[in-house]
Amino acid sequence: MPRGATIGGVGSYVPERILTNADLEQMVDTSDEWIVSHTGIRERRIAADDQASSDLAIMAAQRALQDAGVGAPEIDLIIVTTVTPDMPFPATACLVQDGIGATNAAAFDLSSGCTGFIYGLVAGANFIRIEDYEHVLLISTETLTRIANWTDRSTCVLFGDGAGAAVLKPCREGEGLLSHVLESYGEHGDLLMLPGGGSRLRLTPELIAQHKDCLEMEGPEIFKLAVRGIPKVAEKALDKAGISASEVGAVVMHQANKRILDAAGQRLGIPSERIVCTVDKYGNTSAASVPLALDDIYRRGQLDPGDIVLFVGFGAGFTLGAAVLRWTLEPFTNTTSAPAH
Ligand code: ACO
Repeated sequence: MPRGATIGGVGSYVPERILTNADLEQMVDTSDEWIVSHTGIRERRIAADDQASSDLAIMAAQRALQDAGVGAPEIDLIIVTTVTPDMPFPATACLVQDGIGATNAAAFDLSSGCTGFIYGLVAGANFIRIEDYEHVLLISTETLTRIANWTDRSTCVLFGDGAGAAVLKPCREGEGLLSHVLESYGEHGDLLMLPGGGSRLRLTPELIAQHKDCLEMEGPEIFKLAVRGIPKVAEKALDKAGISASEVGAVVMHQANKRILDAAGQRLGIPSERIVCTVDKYGNTSAASVPLALDDIYRRGQLDPGDIVLFVGFGAGFTLGAAVLRWTLEPFTNTTSAPAH
């Protein structure tokens, strides 16, 4: 009997330390006015010195498992999507497995930049649909501020740290994940990268002095690709699901820039109140931004069973992705539960 896959629990975590635009004014030649008008970002979270991506992931995972009512030993597979793993290997997913005691899980990492949660959602859903897995724990976690160049005002003001998680489980066909579109454009890989530290460019003191251990980005080029690409993948995914833009209850998009959110919403013809925006308080948290935004509206009680959620992502690679999901979880009601941090 064919079955679908859906989100059965959500959780997130952001570090406590807040870095405001006013703080950044003391660090580089920038202003609150420039950052807000060009990006919509007002503040972002910074991981503590002793917090790595797996630590953030473990917090988010535990909250998602609690929300789903699923114990760690019941998890069949852990997928972690990140561009800031604790280290190249072992996989951050294995570190999370150990941290939460998911003794029966397989675990692997997936790297598709800021589109990671959507790639991971599709991969995890297919393990449920095709392989008969019962519970997949999907976590997107990032410590982007560890690879930011704090002397480059054009990038360092943009990024923040955080993690979001979802427990995927089986559902009836026609509910949960209805359609998806995943695309990659490797010819644009040089627009956003971490050049040093891999097998191509081994880090030397000279290269570190040139910040080759930090993220490099052609922001305006990415802006153009994102604004053109997001409506295309979103419309393809909606067409595949047989859903019109007017039926979409919430658009959960990669949170890079408020201007990109607004432009994509306009091109899709979806009113701004349905475009979830958390970039103001978390900045760009790469792969974590989509599940952080999802958890934000879920914990505000803004999602009801039957609602259509449109996920859209873009990021390093260059990658694009969209997924249409018919929401199945009851509204979140536990008002005593801790907020995201
Ligand atoms: N403060 C003050 N001035 C600044 C700053 C700053 N922090 N950064 C740049 N400027 C200046 C520039 O030097 C430039 O000055 P000039 O005209 O005298 O040369 C001016 O502001 C305009 O710079 P642009 O780069 O053209 O600014 P733009 O309006 O394009 O905004 C931004 C830049 C915010 C990066 C935008 O291009 C953007 O959001 N791009 C998309 C980035 C993105 O989505 N990245 C993530 C995708 S993948 C991932 O998330 C990991």
